[in-house]
Amino acid sequence: MTQKTNTFYVTTPIYYVTAKPHLGSLYSTVLADVLARFNKLQSKEVFFLTGTDEHGQKVALAAKDAGKKPQEFVDGFIGTYKDVWKDYSIEYNHFVRTTDRQHKKAVQEWIERLKEKGDIYKDFYTGWYCTPCETFIAEKADDTEKAPACSSCDRRTAIVQEETYFFRLSAYQDKLLALYKGNPDFIAPRERLNEVISFVKSGLKDLSISRTTIDWGIPFRNDPEHIAYVWADALNNYITALGWPEDMEKVHHWWPANVQVLGKDIVRFHAVFWPAFLMAIELPMPKKLLVHGWINVNKQKMSKSLGNVVDPTILHKKYGPDEVRYYLLKQMAVTHDSEFSIQDLERHIETDLANDLGNLLNRLITLAHKNKITEAASPAVWHQQALDLRDESLNVVQDVQGYIDDCLFHMALSRIWKYINQVNAYFHHQEPWKLANQDPEQFMQVIAATRNALEVIGVLLWPVMPTKMEQLLLSIGMTLNIRDTLLADLALKAWQEKTHTLIKINTLFKKPEMKKEVDSKQQEIAKKADKETIDYIGIEDLIKVQLVVGTIVACELVEKSEKLLKMQVDCGDYGKRQILAGIRAFYEPYDLVGKQGSFVLNLKPRKMVGHESQGMMLVAKDADGKTQLMSPQQTVPNGTRLQ
Ligand code: MSP
Repeated sequence: MTQKTNTFYVTTPIYYVTAKPHLGSLYSTVLADVLARFNKLQSKEVFFLTGTDEHGQKVALAAKDAGKKPQEFVDGFIGTYKDVWKDYSIEYNHFVRTTDRQHKKAVQEWIERLKEKGDIYKDFYTGWYCTPCETFIAEKADDTEKAPACSSCDRRTAIVQEETYFFRLSAYQDKLLALYKGNPDFIAPRERLNEVISFVKSGLKDLSISRTTIDWGIPFRNDPEHIAYVWADALNNYITALGWPEDMEKVHHWWPANVQVLGKDIVRFHAVFWPAFLMAIELPMPKKLLVHGWINVNKQKMSKSLGNVVDPTILHKKYGPDEVRYYLLKQMAVTHDSEFSIQDLERHIETDLANDLGNLLNRLITLAHKNKITEAASPAVWHQQALDLRDESLNVVQDVQGYIDDCLFHMALSRIWKYINQVNAYFHHQEPWKLANQDPEQFMQVIAATRNALEVIGVLLWPVMPTKMEQLLLSIGMTLNIRDTLLADLALKAWQEKTHTLIKINTLFKKPEMKKEVDSKQQEIAKKADKETIDYIGIEDLIKVQLVVGTIVACELVEKSEKLLKMQVDCGDYGKRQILAGIRAFYEPYDLVGKQGSFVLNLKPRKMVGHESQGMMLVAKDADGKTQLMSPQQTVPNGTRLQ
């Protein structure tokens, strides 16, 4: 088959619909969107697929907990997913659902084809199963008393004993090893490939691909007692969404995918099972699996069960979608786990976006307009410093292209920022505010050179911040016409065209208001108390108060309250306590999870907006009136008494 060069097919994992999307799901999706947009800039024909994984035990259990039928339960989340993706300018071409009729039919056909080929056989499975990961665990199930922990999520597994169809995964061991050997770039980063190779070398067992004890899924066409194992169902979405097996023309137009984005927790499914499934139906292998790390909050993986998930909708409202997209790409070195923090997000918005980039644009336009210049005109001959900027813009385009091809987004952004700093330095050293009267020609050169450099910057940053960069480009007289904008020509074209309108726009990036909500009433009371005479108590009174250190293990907002946060606190031997505190103005729930604080345990429990608070958290106000937790300098065992 001829090598396709002008199409680009990118996929995200399909998300379990047990809750609305969180920052981790957004992260996988933004990575794919940036790749899709960057390839559009190269005039490629792009297909970007995302969607939802709706079958399986995990979803069925979540539906049961919610008191809903599975179909009704999953349907309820789809609108939210699509809304969040829209809020974040995710430009997907197709949203696949594993409950789509076409997908279900295709998976049934896939099973029949494997049967015909002799790639699956019926037998009996006895072993362990991890429902949160929907994974069969390799360990032998000879001692049902001792359920092993899941190697991926560390949670307790459950025994499964049932008739099942096995896929002959073991028969693909050598072919898989040959695939990895022949394609060292099959997985980025390479270390993950090495892990996969050792796993496959250690010996592949046949894989159970049907369940008879669950009914929420795709039944085998000729043996409907058997429901397709959720991963056998879900992985196929990448081809069923293209119309496999009915529309093979479309399949061959797009497949193999150029990049499949996924998190490190699901590498084995994509790098071992998925290629073997494809080999079984004789389709080519995806070109690259981009495996990203986890977003951690307070050094723990952000996950629903830990109660530390970050809600993209809140971030979107408070900081704006492009700002969050930028932060995710800049801060998270794609191949490693990275820490998410609000302070850091705010710092990046303030420094990189508002100061370095937004100010540069603002200074340029304001100065030009102040001097009655509404069009930047390039001179016939540039001065040397402008030529340096032009030459460097050629280098930036090339370097960024290289980094994006290697999926090193944070490096691409650092490279662009190096250039932004160079442009800022140029503007500053030229002192155009002095030239305006002294040397109008030089003044115009500085305006035009800075403007042209900004065009290159704006286009290169468009895949990451589409809305903001379209505004920036508009302000320097350019409408992004994707089809015409070949990245290769960008740097030269920007400097060749003669005149461009300069338009004043609203501030591009607003600095986040640092949370300085001073509770003046509280401060007044504190000041008054300082002045009042001290009312001494005896030690016998003090020891009546049970003061202990505890760790906040989960934290959430409280409906109908703008002030309260509800925490679950591990107080060691004193057990787990639910404690409410009026600190919402100063903390997001995920700021607190994993932190230690001091708590009064024997305060009479009381109800606050319908929730019981079983104690009180000790806090102090700092000079800005911000609440500070009373945490030990170093971690101490939970339940340690304060004395
Ligand atoms: N349904 C499967 C994927 C099937 S693909 C054929 C699944 N779904 S998931 O909703 O649990 O996870 C989807 C993606 O979100 C995974 O790539 C996962 O790594 C990613 N993330 C979930 N939590 C994450 C973080 N805390 N940080 C970064 N990404 C994480 O697995």
